[in-house]
Amino acid sequence: MEWGLENRIASIIKPNNNRALMLAVDHGYFLGPTEKLENPKKVIAPLLKHCDSLMLTRGVQRTSVPATTSTPMVLRVSGGSSIIGDDLSQEDITVSIEDAIRLNASALAMSIFVGSKYEYQTIVNLGKLVNEAAKYGLPVLAVTAVGKEMGKDARYLSLACRVAAEQGAHIVKTYYCDNFEKVVQSCPVPIIVAGGKKIPERDALQLTYNAIKGGAVGVDMGRNIWQSDNPVAMIKAVRSIVHGNSNVDQAFKLYKKLSIGNNKPNQNKSNKPNQNKSNKPNQNKSNKPKSTS
Ligand code: 5RP
Repeated sequence: MEWGLENRIASIIKPNNNRALMLAVDHGYFLGPTEKLENPKKVIAPLLKHCDSLMLTRGVQRTSVPATTSTPMVLRVSGGSSIIGDDLSQEDITVSIEDAIRLNASALAMSIFVGSKYEYQTIVNLGKLVNEAAKYGLPVLAVTAVGKEMGKDARYLSLACRVAAEQGAHIVKTYYCDNFEKVVQSCPVPIIVAGGKKIPERDALQLTYNAIKGGAVGVDMGRNIWQSDNPVAMIKAVRSIVHGNSNVDQAFKLYKKLSIGNNKPNQNKSNKPNQNKSNKPNQNKSNKPKSTS
């Protein structure tokens, strides 16, 4: 592998244990001011030193992340639709390679919508992005966005992950599912798992644990960290699984310990599922497909 490419991938997937803890804060690119991510600067500041890399858009990077950081940036370069538009799968590449380099991106990220109306467009865009990125030794992370009609099942996700890898993606982000091992086994590049909608902290830690056990190199988690009542405690607990080989009980114990004194009003609240809130505004609009849930 070419030196620059290998070096950048190693900044995201740590070579000592082949694990990665990415913090995702790119949600605003189609959701707008997502609940608890209304002020990205405030959200990112206390969490930045606890993640291996940060996944975000150029707007948030320029306005909300100190340029003095040594944390690698995984730059989302796709977009074009919003939660109130007609079709979330209608994405294009919106960031030039020159701007990504100016921003010192360690990797580029974009979504593909396999099985959607814009499948062809997004897959061809992935191939084109890999072509451009290859000129500069930049790795590409493909996000397998899930359409409303498509279940998060191993058959569909392994298809989407494999398609992404065949186009040359260096890392593929997908969802945890039953028979997740099959998704990993049929994908020739590392798989990283998204957290999805906010669920109780223990469940999110279980998801992290299961994903790693199933062969994922790590998680690219957003809502289950910064929508937690205790984001720093949560990212540290997730980290203890990804990098410290903690089991779920140990990680949850750590979460609770670190939450003491920070919790307003109580633990139980943070353990209630917080379904759908993150997709506000507009829960009812029939966007097809509905991605990243
Ligand atoms: C949005 C994304 C998000 O980065 C991804 O879904 C991870 O965040 P979360 O853990 O909140 O699901 O790619 O398209």
